[in-house]
Amino acid sequence: MTSETGDRSVYETIFRRRDTRGEFTGEPIPAEVLRRVLSAAHAAPSVGLSQPWDFVVVSDMDLRKKFREHVLDERAVFEGRLDAERARIFAPIKIEGIVDSSVGIVVGYDPSRGAPAVLGRHAIADAGLYSVCLAIQNLWLAATAEGLGVGWVSFYREEFLRELVGLPENIRPVAWLCVGPVRELPNVPDLERHGWRERLPLDAVLHYEKYSPAELS
Ligand SMILES: Cc1cc2nc3c(=O)[nH]c(=O)nc-3n(C[C@H](O)[C@H](O)[C@H](O)COP(=O)(O)O)c2cc1C
Repeated sequence: MTSETGDRSVYETIFRRRDTRGEFTGEPIPAEVLRRVLSAAHAAPSVGLSQPWDFVVVSDMDLRKKFREHVLDERAVFEGRLDAERARIFAPIKIEGIVDSSVGIVVGYDPSRGAPAVLGRHAIADAGLYSVCLAIQNLWLAATAEGLGVGWVSFYREEFLRELVGLPENIRPVAWLCVGPVRELPNVPDLERHGWRERLPLDAVLHYEKYSPAELS
């Protein structure tokens, strides 16, 4: 499995991963597969072993339709802030696959878990949130290894999503993930394909010893 070059399957999965919106087939995810993917999320590192995440699996189509309406409203809010050229590029970009995917997974952040003495969070409150994002990345990579697509949706107001899925006040919704079988995982990110933005070369963000500013847009 490993050699001097490392475990190739991990790299393959990392580079194959894609944010998916238009490729979902809507087929069901076998229960054991969904369980494996969620187990991978739950195996993430977390500050002070606080494991501050919760996962709400949403299959109910009425809930999903309500969420989608809200997301489309927020899309319009964002679109309204763009200049004419950006709006033209943005128009054909799909930003969600909420009803086309097989399930939605809402990921929540519970800062009270393991508190007050969360080891490693006393100086950096965001360390809890970082932990949740690592769980999401684990989920994303595991789903990719299972041949599933994942699309992260963040066009929403936290309060709306909290109420929609009944999260208590102390739990912050961090993501709605659209998850399910896909026709394909595209090679190129949608945003690049549409000319919205390109992935930067590694050297543009890599520094040695001290940060050196680069010309980035
Ligand atoms: C925190 C976060 C929020 C995102 N929100 C959205 C979103 O609301 N809609 C969307 O279409 N993509 C969303 N994405 C996906 C990014 O657009 C995508 O990761 C990026 O374009 C790179 O493409 P790739 O993930 O396929 O490599 C989000 C990604 C992250 C990490």
